[in-house]
Amino acid sequence: MCGIVAFKGNKEKTSEVIFEGLKLLEYRGYDSCGIGVIDNNEIKSFKWKGRVRKTEKRFIESKIKSPIAIGHTRWATHGEPNDVNSHPITSYNKKFAIVHNGIIENYRELKKILLEKGYEFYTETDTEVLVNFIELCVSNAKNIDKGISYALSKLEGAFGIVLIQRSNTDIMYAARKGSPLAFGRKGENFFIASDATPIIEYTKKIIYLDNGQLLKIDKTNFEVLDFELNKVPNKFQEVDVELQKVELGDFDSYMLKEIMEQPESLNQTMLGRIKNNKITLGGIHKYSKDLINTKRVIIIGCGTSWHAGLVAEYFLEKYLRVPVEVEYASEFRYRFPIINKGDIVFVISQSGETADTLEATRIAKKKGGILLGIVNTVGSSIARITDEGCYLHAGPEIGVASTKAFTSQLMLLLMIGAKTAYLKKNISIKKYEKMISELKRIPSKIEEVLELNNDIKKISKKIYKKNHALFLGRGNNFPVALEGALKLKEISYIHAEGYPAAEMKHGPIALIDSEMPVVAICTKSDEYDKMISNIREVGSRNAIVIGVIDKENEHVKDYLDFSILVPSTSKDFTPIINQIPLQLLAYHCAIFRGCDVDKPRNLAKSVTVE
Ligand code: M6R
Repeated sequence: MCGIVAFKGNKEKTSEVIFEGLKLLEYRGYDSCGIGVIDNNEIKSFKWKGRVRKTEKRFIESKIKSPIAIGHTRWATHGEPNDVNSHPITSYNKKFAIVHNGIIENYRELKKILLEKGYEFYTETDTEVLVNFIELCVSNAKNIDKGISYALSKLEGAFGIVLIQRSNTDIMYAARKGSPLAFGRKGENFFIASDATPIIEYTKKIIYLDNGQLLKIDKTNFEVLDFELNKVPNKFQEVDVELQKVELGDFDSYMLKEIMEQPESLNQTMLGRIKNNKITLGGIHKYSKDLINTKRVIIIGCGTSWHAGLVAEYFLEKYLRVPVEVEYASEFRYRFPIINKGDIVFVISQSGETADTLEATRIAKKKGGILLGIVNTVGSSIARITDEGCYLHAGPEIGVASTKAFTSQLMLLLMIGAKTAYLKKNISIKKYEKMISELKRIPSKIEEVLELNNDIKKISKKIYKKNHALFLGRGNNFPVALEGALKLKEISYIHAEGYPAAEMKHGPIALIDSEMPVVAICTKSDEYDKMISNIREVGSRNAIVIGVIDKENEHVKDYLDFSILVPSTSKDFTPIINQIPLQLLAYHCAIFRGCDVDKPRNLAKSVTVE
């Protein structure tokens, strides 16, 4: 999963378009970065392990001005992140250079053919196989279009590629199967990128290539073809996306900024959607009857978005009285899922570009589900292919660890659930209005939690050197435990597990000793007393026990080594508040361990490969 930016046009603009674009796409991967240009009839590549700024500096120092360039920011799939495996990759006979996002699944078979033809390989990537295969096919066909078409027809897997040819600075090809590519044109300047953000600075008119489409740009024009070289109709669409340049302000990291922003981002999620103590959700209005009458709800997502779905499952089953299934998108797409006509499928994704979630959405749509997107990124692929949906309006989330998007996902799902429960007459108007009033109070309660930042920092200091941690919760706070563990492991590299507290005695309790911090979520709930028993069980085995507790149950402190006292709210809404201290705990542990919290190792903000 990688980011691509390509440009053909005014050579004075090349460096700016490519590098500013790549900076916007670093969310797709950031382990290495490169640019390839044609200069003096030669393909020249500048590519290194590391971030965009490093490559940009070295390219600018080279003083090369080229009217054609392909750029790439990588998240390694085949071959470790190093200088050689970085893109662009040049073909064996130096005739072509390519940037690639995706995975070529039949690269072994293709490599065998190429080895038999005398090709040699210098990288560990599937991309080198791809560019060499294109070179071979073009040479066999003695025609560039036909050669590319033949090569594309033989590829298995997913790809978004842009290709340049040494001998011709007028020509550029892009092709898509699976991995998204957007195209824009302003006069004689042509732009291609993995999403529209690097382009909208120059033009808001975008063509999103469909699967199986090839874009050919020549001297002054372009055409969109299928892989058999038939012309296909294309139309620019005006994208309603504003480029939001996000400044760090006084913060050291985007993660901390985004944690601290949550009172505001939650207010934004509610803004215009609560009027006269009633919830209005224009985005899914068309399907409100289907929501009321549905016999089944399915929720799909990955990572943190999947955790948000789990919290929603508790709420929706309780109040809608229909079965709710929460699915990992990656499992759902491959297990012949059963979708009945009228099933509501919520698709949760911050980025709106996660490959597994996108494909699961396509499958659910084909099978007749009603697809409702819960997405943050406006105009993203998932937002475009779902039937309807509501945006989170949480603002851009830059830190790789999802924080404010998670709480906005919860807020939106709870609002949808509360409204539907009321329309179904499963709750009284009094209960409905009480829920809304409480939801409106959540942002100010989160402000109170954020004031505990220094206390949480002190607690983090006691545990950051440990190698493992266990997070325990029950009921709707079990997903909070999962999410707390995910945050800690992804940014601090401390191994952490989230468990339903009662399950602990079926195995994980064997791990408990003084080296195992246990974070127990123990705010008001139906299983409160049982949670206390679980806390005592781990405490008596010498674990360091940190409890997230609320004001109504302060006496739990007696059983805890450290307590984090959060404001009380309705039992149904505790997950939104309880997640905040766990985000801060993960953040401080990571900072104490010297980790880059915004760009943790091996991760990318948006996972656009399988
Ligand atoms: O953009 P999405 O919500 O679809 O992303 C899903 C996951 O990749 C994401 O939540 C991931 O788990 C985060 N790194 C968690 O902090």
